[in-house]
Amino acid sequence: MHRLGDMPCRLSGGVRWTRRRPGVRDASGAGHRPKFTYHVTWLSPASLGLVTRRKADVEFLDYWQVARRNWRLLVSSMLVAVCAAAVYSLTQPTVYSATSTAYVVAGTSESTGDALAGSALAKEKAATYLPLVSSQQVAMRIAEDLGLTSTQGIAGSLTASVVKESVLFQVTATSSTAQSASRLAQAAVRATAAEVQALETINPTGDATATTVIRVVPVQQAATPAVRVSPTVKRNLVIGTLLGLSLGFVIALIRRAMDRRVRMSTEAEELAGVGTLGIIPSAPELATGKLSPHLGPAAEAMRLLRTNIRFVSVDHPPRSIVVTSANPDEGKSTIAAHLAFMLAASGQPTILIDADLRRPSQAELFDVDGAVGLTQVLARAVPLMDALVTGPHPNLELLLAGRIPPNPSELVGSERMHSLIAELSTTHIVIIDAPPLLAVTDAGLLTVASDGALLVIKSGSTFKEQVALCRDTFDRVGGGLLGTVLNLVPKKDLGSAVYGYGYASHPNHYYSSHDSRRDDDSRDRRSSATRELSKGV
Ligand SMILES: Nc1ncnc2c1ncn2[C@@H]1O[C@H](COP(=O)(O)OP(=O)(O)O)[C@@H](O)[C@H]1O
Ligand SMILES: [Mg+2]
Repeated sequence: MHRLGDMPCRLSGGVRWTRRRPGVRDASGAGHRPKFTYHVTWLSPASLGLVTRRKADVEFLDYWQVARRNWRLLVSSMLVAVCAAAVYSLTQPTVYSATSTAYVVAGTSESTGDALAGSALAKEKAATYLPLVSSQQVAMRIAEDLGLTSTQGIAGSLTASVVKESVLFQVTATSSTAQSASRLAQAAVRATAAEVQALETINPTGDATATTVIRVVPVQQAATPAVRVSPTVKRNLVIGTLLGLSLGFVIALIRRAMDRRVRMSTEAEELAGVGTLGIIPSAPELATGKLSPHLGPAAEAMRLLRTNIRFVSVDHPPRSIVVTSANPDEGKSTIAAHLAFMLAASGQPTILIDADLRRPSQAELFDVDGAVGLTQVLARAVPLMDALVTGPHPNLELLLAGRIPPNPSELVGSERMHSLIAELSTTHIVIIDAPPLLAVTDAGLLTVASDGALLVIKSGSTFKEQVALCRDTFDRVGGGLLGTVLNLVPKKDLGSAVYGYGYASHPNHYYSSHDSRRDDDSRDRRSSATRELSKGV
């Protein structure tokens, strides 16, 4: 096996390889040579049509995926917040506001000089009248004007301002009806004018007969109807919508952070430390418990898995591959059977070994008699050639489990098993259906005897800790992990789980198994480099 130099390095076509672990027995079983498994992290779609991922896209898709997965939560939190905003708006008192304006005038303006001096004085005075509006004297004048019995609340309903750089004095009044707001604003201006008149005519001796050149003259009647300033229903509803969505999104992110199950290829890659080589949808054709030669939409996913395996190690493509998973019922046997069939269908002589000697299922999957198989061959009770069963494709042979033995681990970990895999892999691609990795040691032992393992992860079911534990187990026993396969991915999650596959966006393309097989074949033939690589698998 060639050294690729300092890792990681990028090969043409955008394939990034990362050295994983040296010192594993090579494929022929001839001895220990440095061996590397490679982590495919990025493949050019143009040349290979495989997984395409960029960090920014992944992050965006992450959030998009969280939103899609939790759309019910987002909609319900938004509805709750909108309802709360509506209730709040309805319970708020209605408030109208009206504004009345007055001029502050000073002097008689008989000459230009007088006019300028009077204007400056008026501006200055206008600002000093502002506090008057909320005074008790003005409130009493307003109450008298409007025939009110009390001055309570009048001052609080009024605000005064001076239009910048002008002599315009404005009073804004708020009230529960448009009419009363208008009347209050007008009365306030009149009352302020009267109060100013009274104040400006008091001379220093307290004699109120003095004359003044300063007056407040109401110039504009407050228009009716006045504007409604509260409640602002539209604004409250918009704020409610945004708050509801944000709250829902935060809850969704917290839920995701607390989710301990693997759902996305990025998570699988991070935990296992190797690339995701296949993402298999949950498909009725795969749920039958039988090998299905016509897989429908899942066929393309299975073919991509087959193709990706070819690129795991370009110089020495794996020839013996163990299919295992953390737990039972995660789809090991189903994937092993269909992968073996796909390899055979692509012209590769393939042997599928059912090495799950505790719960063998390949005989049932292929609907053949599984009485004779691996256990008899290992015990040298039956010659290998007699134990092999021809599968549904001429390129596919099956070595079924045979009689269930009392000591499966000893059998699969034996020297004989080791040499059997090595022998078969010289002429065939060997796919080995193994028991769960965390339950028993068999899968680890088999991986050491083979070129590496595919770790099947059941989407939304396998715990993250279990995947990390599998990685540790492979590291401990010295078996190479080729990649992971995310299985039973719900259709609605495919787009997000399969970044770049475009699976969800082009579902029809995959429904035609005939066409997609042709596509795959033509993709396999696309470049001479790819053709070279294909020879290996
Ligand atoms: N991608 C899939 N879509 C639908 N059903 C699946 C899929 N993969 C596996 N199954 C079903 O899940 C069950 C368990 O699969 P199996 O291959 O026997 O798991 P294991 O070998 O890991 O115990 C089987 O009934 C199988 O048909
Ligand atoms: Mg099984």
